[in-house]
Amino acid sequence: MKSMMFCLVLALSGLTFQAHAAEIDAAGLYQDYCSVCHGEKGDGKSHAMQGLIPPPRDFTSPQSSIELNFGRIVHAIREGVPGTAMTAWKSRLSAEQINAISRHIQQKFLRAATVETATEGSRIYADFCSVCHGDTGKGAVWATSGLNPRPVDFTSTAALATLDRLRMINAVSYGRPETAMTGWKNRLTDTQIEVVVDYVINSFMSGSDAEKKLQTESVPVSVDTRANMDLPMPFDLHGDYNKGAALYMSNCSTCHGVTGDGRGPRAYFINPKPRNFLHTSSRATLNRPALYESVAKGKLRTEMPAWETVLDPQQLADVSEFVYQQFIREK
Ligand code: HEC
Ligand code: HEC
Ligand code: HEC
Repeated sequence: MKSMMFCLVLALSGLTFQAHAAEIDAAGLYQDYCSVCHGEKGDGKSHAMQGLIPPPRDFTSPQSSIELNFGRIVHAIREGVPGTAMTAWKSRLSAEQINAISRHIQQKFLRAATVETATEGSRIYADFCSVCHGDTGKGAVWATSGLNPRPVDFTSTAALATLDRLRMINAVSYGRPETAMTGWKNRLTDTQIEVVVDYVINSFMSGSDAEKKLQTESVPVSVDTRANMDLPMPFDLHGDYNKGAALYMSNCSTCHGVTGDGRGPRAYFINPKPRNFLHTSSRATLNRPALYESVAKGKLRTEMPAWETVLDPQQLADVSEFVYQQFIREK
């Protein structure tokens, strides 16, 4: 149903586009100037193809639908791609004509591939996710009463406020500590994880302000969701491990546990549970700057306080350094 609506929206935006383009015959321009290399169907299958290295771009490939946004298409047509047969067209085509051809490529060739990707996403979701998250993304009936914590309701304002694309990719890759949400990295490829996350965003979380925040445009495929673990503390700070250890034991261990496993004596009473620093998801994301930021700002809608009201910047760096060296960094 949702994917039908998705197609409908695409079809409608296609219609409005055609109304605009009536003045400029984008299809005709493409046919005259571009199809000789890129093919009539935009798939790069043309007579010229054999002779060219690199070959003309296949606009219908999934790769193209991810890489080519409107701005990049316009730029390529205007300026060409140096070192290839793709020459600059800015002296031969007007800005309006270039815009119209770019829309034509988006609507006619790239969208078809996007719809295919959406279908793939819906299949993965149905196979692996709907058992807990439900067909509507609100959570399957059994899971909302049987799981603690229950699956997030993707359609809720709380989900829109807290989730972004990268966090979702991380959650699906590595799982969420101490919940039924396990990591899928060994069962799905990185691309499949991105595809299913985009499906969740498009099907359950769109049509709101938060949509912009979630938008996928120009995020490269297979982003490396592991944070760079070599980054230093922000603000030129250098944390002191020993001072940090003392701070941790007096301020953090009651919740996060002496061993960093999230099972301190207070954890029993708290939901969501304190972060388990030994979990793969923590080890993939909590580098020094991320730790500093989390500790300073705390975490909304959880019992994690904002420590910047209690600790000074040097102390924030000390305790973050301790958590990093003691728990996050694999030994
Ligand atoms: C003589 C052959 C040829 C013609 C004619 C041609 N192109 Fe290309 N085009 C190419 C090749 C080759 C590439 C691949 C460049 C690469 O792989 O970096 C390309 C790449 C592109 C790209 C992708 C650029 C990117 O950033 O990756 C776009 C968009 C594009 N062409 C649009 C057009 C449009 C629109 C026209 C007509 C106005 C056109 N091309 C005419 C050969 C051609
Ligand atoms: C066995 C049940 C189960 C399955 C199967 C499952 N999830 Fe979850 N999921 C959960 C639970 C429970 C949570 C809530 C975790 C929490 O509160 O931190 C969750 C949370 C999430 C979140 C939010 C994570 C965050 O950072 O807050 C995303 C995104 C998500 N799931 C996506 C998926 C996708 C995509 C799939 C399929 C590949 C999937 N889930 C499969 C139970 C499940
Ligand atoms: C009252 C309990 C409590 C105390 C005390 C506490 N935390 Fe937390 N902490 C939490 C909870 C709950 C979360 C949220 C877990 C989640 O959302 O998965 C959290 C999350 C975190 C995170 C991850 C945040 C993120 O963005 O995912 C870090 C890092 C952290 N705490 C560090 C600390 C440090 C360092 C201290 C001591 C200075 C501390 N915490 C003290 C309960 C606590």
